Amino acid sequence: MTNTESSLFGVRFVGSGSAVPDRVLTNIDLAQMVDTTDEWIASRTGIRARHIADGDEDSVANLAAQAGQKAIAAAGLTPQDIDLIILSTSTSDDLFGTAGRVQQILGAERAVAFDLVAACSGFVFGLVTASQYIRTGVYKNVLLIGADVLSRWVDWEDRRTCILFGDGAGAVVLQASSEIKPENNLLGFEMRSDGKGNNLLNINYSGRSTFEPISMNGQEVYRFAVRRVPEVIEKSLHYANLEIHDLDWLILHQANQRIIDAVVNRLDCDPAKAVSNMGKYGNTSAASIPIALDEWVQAGKIQPDHLIAIAGFGAGLSWGSAVFRWG
Ligand code: UT7
Repeated sequence: MTNTESSLFGVRFVGSGSAVPDRVLTNIDLAQMVDTTDEWIASRTGIRARHIADGDEDSVANLAAQAGQKAIAAAGLTPQDIDLIILSTSTSDDLFGTAGRVQQILGAERAVAFDLVAACSGFVFGLVTASQYIRTGVYKNVLLIGADVLSRWVDWEDRRTCILFGDGAGAVVLQASSEIKPENNLLGFEMRSDGKGNNLLNINYSGRSTFEPISMNGQEVYRFAVRRVPEVIEKSLHYANLEIHDLDWLILHQANQRIIDAVVNRLDCDPAKAVSNMGKYGNTSAASIPIALDEWVQAGKIQPDHLIAIAGFGAGLSWGSAVFRWG
């Protein structure tokens, strides 16, 4: 039995949306701030620019609500139709949670809203969480948002980390299948974590009502990603009863082009199927997969019934994958 069988209600993917701040910070700009070059950043990461939050306008709540609004409209729904909002973020505007503000901005008065913290795996973990409420028949329309403003927590004097991150939000609306469309389009998933690697990527509480900037052991996280991500993709493909060449698209967390290339190579995947937009956005944490998904949907590259595998990985350590059919 797969991990998505044996339930009355299937999960459908009915809309996407995304939002990024207007302000763009290029590698050339960064080279004025720290001892780095466009050549180093582009060749080591694939990143050329990122969008950076500029004041309250670009709060997590505002970016998340903009992405959510677009996803709800794309689904042909109104905010009143939403039963549940899950906001995956690790950079909350408020330690008590930001999902309530998103609910308020959207006017999604019927919904219950909460935050989910799983760093760069947040969107995958949020998708699996949302799907459980749908599969059990508890909720019909779920708005899942991945949103992060990591620029708040970057040490802008640390060239090892400040070149990597960008800000933004991406969202999807998940809907319970109906009698007219009875299919379950979430075909397989696998979630993992390993606390032994918890010290490799942190924004630690500093004991003074604030937090330290991001600290990361880049080489260890890189090794972890290249080793572990293919395993969870293979596992979720197995549950879906699919093979890598059945996929139309592979959307990995956009952390480093070299990680994408290595995972594609290990899986023997057609590189043309591997979605990449980190050149424009950098690593937007929980937002990176839904921003990429939405960009490919908007461009008409992702079409209804396309088979998609996504995989997130990052702090925790946490990692996970899901395989689904779009629509
Ligand atoms: O979203 C969460 C998941 N995070 C990730 O997936 C990140 C995974 N890690 C990575 O993507 C890579 O490890 C990095 C992009 C962070 C770093 O690339 P690397 O190839 O692992 O470089 P490195 O840390 O081994 O550094 C190589 C050299 C060092 O100099 P020495 O010690 O060899 O003299 C660094 O000091 O590059 C130097 N360096 C830089 N040089 C110019 C580090 N950052 C920079 C920089 N510009 N920005």
